[in-house]
Amino acid sequence: MPEKFYITTPIYYVNSDPHIGSAYTTIVADVIARYKRIMGYDVFFLTGTDEHGQKILQAATQNGEDPQSFCDKLAAKFKNLWKDLNITNDYFIRTTNEDHMRVVQSFVSKMKENGDVYKGKYQGWYCIPCETYWSEEDLDESKICPSCGRELKFIAEDNYFFRLSKYTDKLLKHYEENPDFVQPDFRRNEMLKILQSGLKDLSITRTTFSWGVPMPDDLQHVIYVWVDALINYISAVGFMKDESRFSYYWPADLHLIGKEINRFHSIVWPAMLMSVGLPLPKKVFAHGWLTVNGQKISKSLGNAIDPRFLADKYGNDVVRFYLLRDIVFGKDGDFSEQNLVNRLNADLANNYGNLLHRTTAMIKKHFNSKLPERDLSDSKLVEEVMTAVKSFTHLMDTLQITQALDKAMELLTLANKYFDEKKPWILAKDENKKPLGSVLYNVCEILLKVAVMLAPIMPETSLDVMNRLGFNGDISEQLLSTWGVLKSKDTVKHGKPLFTKIQEKQTKPVVNTQLQEDNLISIDEFKKIQLKVGKVLRAEKIPKSKKLLKLIVDLGPLGQRQIIAGIANYYEPQGLLGKSIVVVINLKPVKLMGLESQGMLLAAKSDAELKILTVDGSIEPGSAIS
Ligand code: MSP
Repeated sequence: MPEKFYITTPIYYVNSDPHIGSAYTTIVADVIARYKRIMGYDVFFLTGTDEHGQKILQAATQNGEDPQSFCDKLAAKFKNLWKDLNITNDYFIRTTNEDHMRVVQSFVSKMKENGDVYKGKYQGWYCIPCETYWSEEDLDESKICPSCGRELKFIAEDNYFFRLSKYTDKLLKHYEENPDFVQPDFRRNEMLKILQSGLKDLSITRTTFSWGVPMPDDLQHVIYVWVDALINYISAVGFMKDESRFSYYWPADLHLIGKEINRFHSIVWPAMLMSVGLPLPKKVFAHGWLTVNGQKISKSLGNAIDPRFLADKYGNDVVRFYLLRDIVFGKDGDFSEQNLVNRLNADLANNYGNLLHRTTAMIKKHFNSKLPERDLSDSKLVEEVMTAVKSFTHLMDTLQITQALDKAMELLTLANKYFDEKKPWILAKDENKKPLGSVLYNVCEILLKVAVMLAPIMPETSLDVMNRLGFNGDISEQLLSTWGVLKSKDTVKHGKPLFTKIQEKQTKPVVNTQLQEDNLISIDEFKKIQLKVGKVLRAEKIPKSKKLLKLIVDLGPLGQRQIIAGIANYYEPQGLLGKSIVVVINLKPVKLMGLESQGMLLAAKSDAELKILTVDGSIEPGSAIS
């Protein structure tokens, strides 16, 4: 009987489209799930969507939709994206699913029966984007969310509370007895600090809106979205529905999450489970966060890259490879398209694709495309390869995925070096083709090992490589643990290069080019802004103002207008006379330094400069701009 391995991703909020940051968690989980399948485990890989709570309700309202149909649309986007990204989840859970909602109610009832839920009054701060309560001690005077930096809302409600405080010591004991419960270690230590300072009871219901799971026996309340969401991990595997399935899969082997939601997974969730007497997950791994070109990913910055867009441009496998190679798993990392291209060119096209290409070309030419005789004479090489493979599996088993990937890349470096040192193009001149055959066989066998090691990360490429090497069986652990898997005389295929290098000028960055639907305006909206050509008749400094200039502008049939513009640091008044500039003429007038500004001129601004927009050539003042 194979051992089971139950792995989960967090369930994603459906308030906005997925981006490269959200895809990161799912891609890494997919890599681990695929690796475990190769190693013979019976894997259950769960992902899904978190659809209740105030944040989702707000997003639906802003979009003018009822929350359920809004969630249906967004959940479908996540589902389809995972399909397009080759994600092999076994199930996709949605928290608006009735079965799940029933389980949430039963779970909370059980906590109540066990004396862990009581009624009280919550008064304090709440972050809607994070759906998180904060106490005064966590905050300074600015009252912004310590996690996301956004403004908090003060709320005062009659709530039900969970006796989280009761579990402080039990949790500390669990951490002590299970040193690997939370990984990496520095994240475990963060949680230990929170535990050591003592836990407060947690408000677990809300009354000011109703988009959530109703509290059993008190329908005025809906259950706190985090309590609802965490329970997905057990409702998805049959809790209270299919006990044999549930006891087979639970406890989960790994909850993979981002660092900002560690407290919920490593403190709140285990305490909830303790309350109802269920075993705790075996491991919680909190990975770091991705920035894009050094900036936090945010819709308003326009850098929330659509992963599908990237995958279409470079291929799924390349994006997955880049994310696992460049972002050290567990740490924060920066996404840069240039680095992705560098990895593609150096690691994949040069070290991997080129070696395969050169090798299969020689087998085609000198061995009529049949894999040459197996060779065991080079024991030093074989030993080096098998040591690297062993470290690879150890590193993968301990979730050091980036370091495991290094081992595959080291094998490619080793094989390239071996190829260059053995000079097969010289051996090819020899009548006796055995030495040439041995070298080519060895390189093929290393390439096969690399393909298996990379299969969780680059599944399509690995199948392609194995096929070219003449291997058509299943990918399994045995291909890694023994040398000489490839069979002599099998047909090797020499095909197109595996990867195409990208020249710098071919790369148009995907960042900032993505159209954000909610940023778009219609042509009618644009037409509301009336732009006209204005000729500067007069320009002068404004006493006591360092920044402002006063301009009198001729707008032809519309007459003359006074414009107060913040350009004094960049232009001398004299230099502006006679220029045909672009003026917004339907802005509400405002008073600046006591003077009315009856329009606005357009200018381009960088950190250091400001340049007024002018018209290319001469045209009547008052001409419309569109
Ligand atoms: N709904 C909750 C999770 C409930 S699980 C019971 C939630 N959802 S989320 O959509 O905000 O985040 C889901 C995952 O995406 C988290 O693991 C989070 O860390 C990850 N990421 C979102 N943006 C990210 C980056 N910029 N970088 C890496 N991962 C990030 O929290």
